Amino acid sequence: MGRIIAVANQKGGVGKTTTTINLSAALAGLGMEVLVVDCDPQGNATTGLGLSKKEIILNEDSTSYDLMTNDAPAEECIKETQLTHLKIIPSEQNLSGAESEILNRDGRNFILREKLQKLKEDFDYILIDCPPSLTVLTINALTAADAVLIPIQCEFYALEGVSQLMSTIALTKNRLNAELDIEGVVFTMYDSRTNLSQQVIDEVKSNIREYIFETKIPRSVRLAEAPSHGLPINLYDVKSNGAVAYKELAEELIKKNGKKTESSKSAVKNTTRTAGKVTKSGASKRAVRKTALQDKKSK
Ligand SMILES: Nc1ncnc2c1ncn2[C@@H]1O[C@H](COP(=O)(O)OP(=O)(O)O)[C@@H](O)[C@H]1O
Ligand SMILES: [Mg+2]
Repeated sequence: MGRIIAVANQKGGVGKTTTTINLSAALAGLGMEVLVVDCDPQGNATTGLGLSKKEIILNEDSTSYDLMTNDAPAEECIKETQLTHLKIIPSEQNLSGAESEILNRDGRNFILREKLQKLKEDFDYILIDCPPSLTVLTINALTAADAVLIPIQCEFYALEGVSQLMSTIALTKNRLNAELDIEGVVFTMYDSRTNLSQQVIDEVKSNIREYIFETKIPRSVRLAEAPSHGLPINLYDVKSNGAVAYKELAEELIKKNGKKTESSKSAVKNTTRTAGKVTKSGASKRAVRKTALQDKKSK
């Protein structure tokens, strides 16, 4: 059974999307089957993983908007990425309209949960990139999730809003999703040369009793550059310290959840797949997707 992780913090610019993209790609590189669900109308995870929003709109491809507002099954919204084991449900601007469309519906907080539940068998990890708000999209993500991963930026005011996030998580747990866990806090944009980063870490540690990932994500120009090339860091610059850190974070997460990696799984799983290998792009990718969907439908 896969684990659904919502990457959330209503503060913007703390590294939610960067973590969703690169942690997912690192997990896929380790042989995990991974799905990213882009739940932010900005669609930065979508473009950061190499999909073109323009093309999605032109092709009228199903996105997380369809997932949230109509009866589109999740399988229909899934797209391939450049990594063999990594898929995505993309988003684009129209997702911002979904909030008002579903606001008055019964069961509005359970839409994503119901849609993703069916996919848990197909993936080891499903990561949801949340928008920088605590509105109905984020509540849907928290209701669908097994756990929340909270990126905290090593900057002034790092804890701003975290207590509000914690109470939203507690409220969701009480009312909507009793199983919801906190996966942990991950420090982003860490700079070992400054005292500030260490001060932030000390402050967070004295205020938050949840699991804190040992792996810290360093501030890295390569991590900031990668999305403009539509590539996760392990395809853009695998030797960079950002790529190494996200791989370590993936390993720490896998270890924490007691999951097996490709090498130990290969005895039972299809061994012809190569972990983290670059796959087809563009038209051939769509052909692969269509065939996969047809395969699924005909099952
Ligand atoms: N570790 C990092 N090092 C350098 N830049 C980073 C790092 N993490 C994120 N960024 C940059 O900071 C900005 C905000 O990050 P992002 O992941 O989009 O945050 P959020 O999704 O929380 O709004 C982006 O421009 C991103 O490229
Ligand atoms: Mg974001």
